Amino acid sequence: MSKIAVLGYGVVGSGTVEVFYKNKKNLEQRAGRDLDIKYILDLRDFNDSPYADRFVKDFEVILKDPEVEVVAELIGGATFSYDFVKQSLLAGKSVVTSNKELVAQKGAELLKIAAEKGVSFFFEASVGGGIPLIRPLHQCLPTDVVTEIKGILNGTTNFILSKMFAEGMNFGDALKMAQDFGYAERNPEADVEGHDTCRKICILASLCFGRHIFPAHVHTEGITNITLPDMEYADNFKCAVKLIGWAKKEKGKLIVMVFPAFIPSDCQLSTVNDVFNAVLVHGEARGEVLFYGKGAGKLPTASAVLSDIVNALKDNVEKSMFWEESCENENPILNYKDMTHRFYVRLKSAQAADIFKVFGNEGIEFIHRKNALEEEKAFITDYLTEREFDEKCADIEKAAEIIGKLRVFE
Ligand code: HSE
Repeated sequence: MSKIAVLGYGVVGSGTVEVFYKNKKNLEQRAGRDLDIKYILDLRDFNDSPYADRFVKDFEVILKDPEVEVVAELIGGATFSYDFVKQSLLAGKSVVTSNKELVAQKGAELLKIAAEKGVSFFFEASVGGGIPLIRPLHQCLPTDVVTEIKGILNGTTNFILSKMFAEGMNFGDALKMAQDFGYAERNPEADVEGHDTCRKICILASLCFGRHIFPAHVHTEGITNITLPDMEYADNFKCAVKLIGWAKKEKGKLIVMVFPAFIPSDCQLSTVNDVFNAVLVHGEARGEVLFYGKGAGKLPTASAVLSDIVNALKDNVEKSMFWEESCENENPILNYKDMTHRFYVRLKSAQAADIFKVFGNEGIEFIHRKNALEEEKAFITDYLTEREFDEKCADIEKAAEIIGKLRVFE
C-alpha cells in the first residue's frame, strides 16, 4: 500500500481528493499497487468532511511518516510550498505539484534534488491544467529540437477576453465569473497582469531549451488595458485578441515574452475560447504540434495531479526530468525592443495626414468598427521593431491620443 499526502485543500486539493476516491480502483491498477491518501494538510478545519480523519495542521507529521511515499503540493504560492517540497524530496519522498510559481522559480534546483535522491518531482498540473503537456513534451525532447513554443496558457484571461467579446460582458463581471468557477488565482492580479502566463512559459521554455528561465527576465504585459473596441477592430482585421506566452530559440538566442496580441484567424490559437488553453510547439523534425484542452478548473487540474501521482509510483517510468540551473543575475533573453512586428494603433481623434507623416504611407492598413466616432482612427502599421514603434508612438502623441495599441502576432 502506498500512502499519499495532499498539501492544501483548496480548489485543486479538494478536486484531487475527490477524483482520487472516484477513480481509486483504476488508479491502483495503473500504479500497480494499492493506494490511499493518509493525510490532508490544511490550517482550516473540515470537521464535516468525509475525510475529516485525514486532516493535519502540522507538516512535520507528514515529513516524519515513512509510509508517505508521495506528497502532492497543492497549496500554491512561494512561501511555505518551497520548504515543504524541498524537505519532502530530501526525505526521499516523491513530490507532485500544480504550483507554477514554485516550478518557474525553483524548478532546476528541485529537479536536481529529486534526481540525487532517486525520487520524482513532477508538475504536469502546473501548465495547461488538464492538458497532458509536460510529459509528452519531455518524452519528445530526445528525438527532436524544439525551436518555438507559443500558447494561450491562462484560462482566466482567455475566459475574460472571450466573454467580453462574445457576450459584451464587462471585465469585472467576467473576472468574477472566472473566480466563481475556480479558474482564477487567489490574487487574480497574477492572471490579468500576465504573471501566471509568464511562469508557465518559463516552465515550458526551461524544459524545452534545457536551462532555467526566470520570470524576472521575461517582458510581461497583461490584459487590463484591452477594450471591446480593440476586439472589434481585431475582428474586422480577421484576428482575435489573445494573451500569448511566446518562447523561441533563434541562432542560439532566446526570445521569451508575454503579451496580448492580435492573432490572425489562420492561426489555431485564434479560435481557442473560454477556459481552454492551447500550446503550439514547433520542433525541427516534427514541425508544428498543437496541445489543446481545459487550462484551469478543479477537475481538469486534479486529473493532471493524479496522473503525476501514478507515474511517481509506477515502476519503469522515467523518474526525473532535468534542465540546467542558471543564475538569476544573468539574463539570457534577447531585449524585446529588438523584436519586429506589425502593430495595431487606435487614436482617439486624428487626421490621416498626421498618421502618414509619422508612420509613412507604405504598409499602413486602416481598419474599422461599427459605431466608432468619425474622428477615431485605427490602423495596422508596417513591420517595425518595438524600438521604432515606440519612437513613432511618441511622435504621433504630439498630434493625437493613443487609446489602444497591440502587437499583431503572426
Ligand atoms: N489561474 C490559472 C488560470 C489557473 O486561469 O489559468 C490554472 O493554472
